[in-house]
Amino acid sequence: MAGIRSIESIDFTGKKVLLRVDFNVELNKKQDVQEQFKLEAPKKTLAHILSYPGVKVALLTHFGRPDGARNMLFSLQPVVDDAERALGVKVRFHEDCVGDGVSAALETLPEGEALLLENVRFYPGEESDDPAFAARLAAPFDIYVNEAFSVCHRAQASVSAITETLPSFAGFRLAEEVRRLEEVRTNPARPAVAIIGGAKIETKLPLIREFERLYDAVLVGGRVANEALDENIEFSEKVLLPKDFQGGDARLDIGPVTTAMFIEIIGKAKTIVWNGPMGKFEEKPYDAGTGAILHAMLASQADVVIGGGESLVIIEEAGLMHKIGFVSTGGGAMLEYLSGDELPGLVALERAAARV
Ligand code: 3PG
Repeated sequence: MAGIRSIESIDFTGKKVLLRVDFNVELNKKQDVQEQFKLEAPKKTLAHILSYPGVKVALLTHFGRPDGARNMLFSLQPVVDDAERALGVKVRFHEDCVGDGVSAALETLPEGEALLLENVRFYPGEESDDPAFAARLAAPFDIYVNEAFSVCHRAQASVSAITETLPSFAGFRLAEEVRRLEEVRTNPARPAVAIIGGAKIETKLPLIREFERLYDAVLVGGRVANEALDENIEFSEKVLLPKDFQGGDARLDIGPVTTAMFIEIIGKAKTIVWNGPMGKFEEKPYDAGTGAILHAMLASQADVVIGGGESLVIIEEAGLMHKIGFVSTGGGAMLEYLSGDELPGLVALERAAARV
């Protein structure tokens, strides 16, 4: 993380600050937010910046994948109330993220409030990391702060190119996220155990390989395990695939022998990184393996780090969020970081720091 500048020693007095957040939350049919933790992630950073007199802050985020066009199905308007509750700050909405209207909205923004800008992916320049679009985003502001670790694996204008135009810093949460993930990746308390499940062997294989190298045991379940078995992928003895299943030939969950074997290893662990369910957890009784592993993890003495969409939904639904040592906001970003990849958003912040 060397090379990323924190906001700690920055004087925000009278500055106009663009704060990149990740409010790309799931909404259920009633338009309720499913991933509250994403809205809460920038709370400390926002409160810190707003404590300076005369400062103006706008929050910028993507929301879904509207393919570079203005599509009200992907408007951030329905998220405003939830964001306000999560951040404990009054949030006003502005219907665009570029243009003179942004400057005007900042001028009239009352002290202590935040402005939420409309979805940055309404413009094609966002996903193409277009410097000209980044310059338009940056125009009304003096300082850029990235508090969106979970989108740092995307080379997109509001994460990457924008750092070429404004003095750029890492928010508290982003810095903490990188520090914690780096620690569990390179210097974990041992025995260190990774539990990897969910779907898509293509995305999870690099992660399994990296933990095979770095950790003492890698427990693999879910569809990834089925695919690894079907494809006869070879691993060292550190990687444990299921020995039995529930759900017949469809192998919808790990079986009792595997569950007991995994629980024994988890009980001895000092560090656990968990990403992805052990089976089709959304359909009973195939949630049993995942539930048993989750409870064994919480009962263990290990420092537990969890991230990635499905794993977090399971924990949020079970009301167990507060029991986890560290919850990463990143799904794809956490996977890529732990796999040893460079994340464009972090590289951009390092470059910005090196230019000073
Ligand atoms: C996420 O939800 O993982 C991030 O917000 C990134 O979203 P994306 O996969 O649509 O780029």
